[in-house]
This record gives sequence, structure tokens and C-alpha cells, in this order.
Amino acid sequence: MARHLITSALPYINGVKHLGNLVGSILPADVYARFMRARGHDVLYICATDEHGTPAELAAAADNKDVDIYCREMHDVQENVYRGFDISFDWFGRSHSQQNHDLTQHLYKKLDENGLIEEVESLQVYSIDDGRFLPDRYVEGTCPHCGYERARGDQCESCTKVLDPTDLVNPRSALSGSTNIEIRPSKHLYLRQSKMVDELRKWIDTKTDWPHLVTSIARKWLDEGLKDRSITRDLKWGIPVAYKGVPRPGFEDKVFYVWFDAPIEYIGATAEWAEATGGDWESWWREDKGADTVRYTEFMGKDNIPFHTVGFPATLLGSKEPWKKADYIKGFNWLNYYGGKFSTSGKRGIFMDKAIALLPADYWRWYLMANAPESQDSSFSWEHFQSIVNKDLCDVLGNFANRILKFTAARFDGKIPAAGEYGPVETETLAAIEEKFRTYTDCMEQMEFRKAAAELRAIWMIGNEYLQRAEPWAIFKQDPEKAGASIRFSLELIRLFAALSAPLIPDAARRMAESVACTGIPAWPSNVKDNMSALETGAPLPAPEILFKKIEDEQITEWIDTFGGAES
Ligand code: MF3
Ligand code: ZN
Repeated sequence: MARHLITSALPYINGVKHLGNLVGSILPADVYARFMRARGHDVLYICATDEHGTPAELAAAADNKDVDIYCREMHDVQENVYRGFDISFDWFGRSHSQQNHDLTQHLYKKLDENGLIEEVESLQVYSIDDGRFLPDRYVEGTCPHCGYERARGDQCESCTKVLDPTDLVNPRSALSGSTNIEIRPSKHLYLRQSKMVDELRKWIDTKTDWPHLVTSIARKWLDEGLKDRSITRDLKWGIPVAYKGVPRPGFEDKVFYVWFDAPIEYIGATAEWAEATGGDWESWWREDKGADTVRYTEFMGKDNIPFHTVGFPATLLGSKEPWKKADYIKGFNWLNYYGGKFSTSGKRGIFMDKAIALLPADYWRWYLMANAPESQDSSFSWEHFQSIVNKDLCDVLGNFANRILKFTAARFDGKIPAAGEYGPVETETLAAIEEKFRTYTDCMEQMEFRKAAAELRAIWMIGNEYLQRAEPWAIFKQDPEKAGASIRFSLELIRLFAALSAPLIPDAARRMAESVACTGIPAWPSNVKDNMSALETGAPLPAPEILFKKIEDEQITEWIDTFGGAES
């Protein structure tokens, strides 16, 4: 048993996320957390809302709400949606928490003491009509690279180039639309990352087992020569620079940049968890306080990789304190919607609250993980979703359980029949499952989720093949006892499948266990054979229920109508 710290990239506060966001960090982290817990490890799965920066302020303004009220409300909305998807966070915090204020301040002070903070005067966009500076997304204009007219000050959505607000042609305020704009000097704090390239490279070089997607993005940044980056902004909303009686002249009206404080909230949220539960957050994060034995895994989409391989480690290394850093980073490509982008601002694709209103979480969890964008981008279509759900969940898993449970109800009075001797069919079935069980476990340990899902599906299929070979319904007339033994064997398989399927489809797993008179999800098996005599002979079973309902063509037509399909 080991201690595993797991984090998934913090979702921005500005609205419920879409399925592409979900499969790129939070869902796979949850599957992994559930798997590791089932294997007996001590797991702490931490996430939070990312509440600072211009996206939060703009979304609150669009909603006509004070930004702190907006964030508090939207945090709860998001948490409820994640709980609806059966995400098993140990804590879902807020980057605006007091804990994150304290930790962000602490790390900034350490960086400053170590000579890694520099005051730099730079030119910023100032709106005369709004009476304020316009950082990042507060300014819009024409992209100097591609001519897109609605580019934002931090990035052009059209050509994806990273921008500085002063790069924009014909800039205008995103708040008032005013073009009455001038460029004014303003002082900011810069983190001297350029002094840390060697140390960062040395750290990355120790990560020989990391996915190529992750290390190649990190090396590209280091090879291009790290620029010092500004870690403050002229904003009101955020973590203030001047704090608790420690002034910094000229910085009274400035806050830290959202990308400085957001990753620190991984630690902050752990401290929130500790305060709420009486846990010890330092034992997860301070290598001098026990965290040296923790294995820390981070999950994220590929756009977040630079900030986690370079930005956040620079903060932690630069503090010269023994903070825990990632032992492994699992990065994801994009899930597309009919080959195009899911887009929050374009409202294209499926958002989590809409998805959960259509179908229970397990349908989505299974589809998304079985098609996770791991080695390359993958693409959602309603037709594909329908075919995967109907084949894997209904025809393979659901049908297996349903046939056995119905037959038990009809022929064995709904009670678990007695076990019998294994013949060659049972022995071969168990050997085949044992082999797949090993590869499935390996894939989950390696976080190869698509392969893991394929192995699990193969295990379910072995169950169906068993029924075809043993044919309990055909032999029932001549030999009811043998048919009973075969049904008993199959009921034990349902229980086994519940244990193995739980990380991916936890609610169905729980219902499968209940269908064979077990409460809760059965313990993870150490091997298959020893787990085939867990049920109680004669125990009454509840009336059989359908595990998964088929998705009908009419539903798909309707959903394409609502959400858009190939043509839109
Ligand atoms: N909110 C960011 C995004 O959605 C991710 C922040 S991850 C963190 O891209 F580590 F910085 F918090
Ligand atoms: Zn552009």
C-alpha cells in the first residue's frame, strides 16, 4: 500500500464544462483514483475551481453579479455537476480560498528572497473611458498574425497564437467597447524563469518514463529559451500582492496573475481538505514532512502541459523549499465534436449539465474513456456514441447480466442456486478471464485507458461466450442441477465484473453487485479463481432490472437536432 496524490487541472470558474474538458483531465483522474483505491492504496484526489483572472470577472459581469458571489455560486454549480458524473474528489476546493492566499503569498516571498522576482516596467493597454488597465481578455482587437477581428488580448482563438494585449490592431475594451485607448507604462513583478532553465531541464531529464507528448512540449519550451514571465496584473479580483502588512510600493492595486496562483491551489485545496477533515496536508506536499514517499500524478489537457512542466515547477523549485513535485504527468489530446472543436465561447458541443439530463453518468463515462484522446485527438459523434453504448454496455455487459438474472428468477425462484464441480468449460473460462484481468490491471496502472477499456470489454465478452457454450437454458430440462451450477458460476461472474468495472462505471457496478445480493462494490480480486465462491447459496435476489437501455435512432435524431451534427 502506497500513498497516491492525484490532481486534475482546475476547471475555470466561468461556466459548466463540456465533455471535451471532462475527458481531458477530471474523468481519467477519477477512474485512476477509483482504481488505486480499489487496489488498497491511500489515495487523495484533489481538484478545485480556478477562480481568478479576466475570464472570471468577465463572466460575472455578463451575469450581472459581484465576482465573489458569482464564483461562490458557480463553484457549487460545478461541484454538483461533477458529483452527478460520480467524480470521487476527496476535495473540490476554490482557488479563492484563504489557504491559497496564504500559500501564494508564501511562495512569492520565498521567490523574492531568492532573487527570482524582478520589478519590470512594461507598456499596458489603458482604457480612458473605463478608467482602468485592460489586461488579457479585457482587450479585443484584430490579430496581427491572421487578421481575425475578435482576437483577445491573451490569445487569438482563430490561429491560437499567444498574444500580448499591446499586439492587437485596433484595440477596444471588452467591457465598454470603447476604442478610446492609450498605452501606458505600468510596473509588474516578473518571475526570472530564464535563470532556472538548467535546473528545470535537470528535473525533466529525470522523468524518463513520462509520455512523449508531455516531455516534448516541456523540452520545446526550454529549448526556445525561457522568458521571464509577468506574474502580476492590474486587476482588483485575485490574490493581492500587498498583503498582511507586507507592503510593496507601487503594487497596492495589483494582484497575482491567475496562472501563478492556480497551480498553487493544488496545495491550497489540500489544506482546505485538511481543515475540513482533520487531515495533514503537509504530509502530502512537504518532502520534509512525509511527502517524499507520496507518488504524485497530475492529469491535464495538452494546452496545460507547459504550465505544469515549466511554470509550476519553476515556482516550487525557486522557493528552495522541499515541495512535492509531479512524479508523473498524464496529458491528453483533444476530443473533437464531429471533427471540429468543442468550444465554450462558441457554445458548440455538449456541456456536462445537458449530458447528464439526457442519460446517466455511466453511459458517458464508458464512451469517453473507451475513446479517450490519448495518443491522438478523437472525435465525438452521436452516431458513434449510440453504437458504442448499444454494443458494449447493452449487448455485451447488460445482456449477459440480464439473461442470467431473468433465468434465475424464472427457474430458480429468484434464489442463488448451489455451486457444482467445474468442467472444462468453466476452467477454460476462468483461465481466459485471468489472463485478461492481468492485462487490464497493467493498463490501468500505466494509465492506458483506451486499452484498459478494451480489455474490460473483452472480459465481459468471455462471460457471453461462456453462456453460449454452457447453455444452462438448454440443459435445464434434463439436468436442472447442472444448469443451476452453471447459473451460479455466471452469478459469481456478475459479482466479479462489478468489482472490475467499478472504476469506469461505478453506478452500474453497484447495481450489478446488488443484483446478486451483495451490498456495495465487491473488493478488488487478487486473482479470479479465488473470487468465484463469494455468493451465498439460497440467497434471494431482487427482481431483475435492466442495466442499460438501448439508445434509439429517434433519440439520436432528436439530439442531433438540439446539439447539432455533422452539417452544423
Ligand atoms: N483553468 C485552467 C484551464 O482550464 C487550468 C488550470 S490548471 C492549474 O486551462 F493547475 F493551473 F490550476
Ligand atoms: Zn490570429
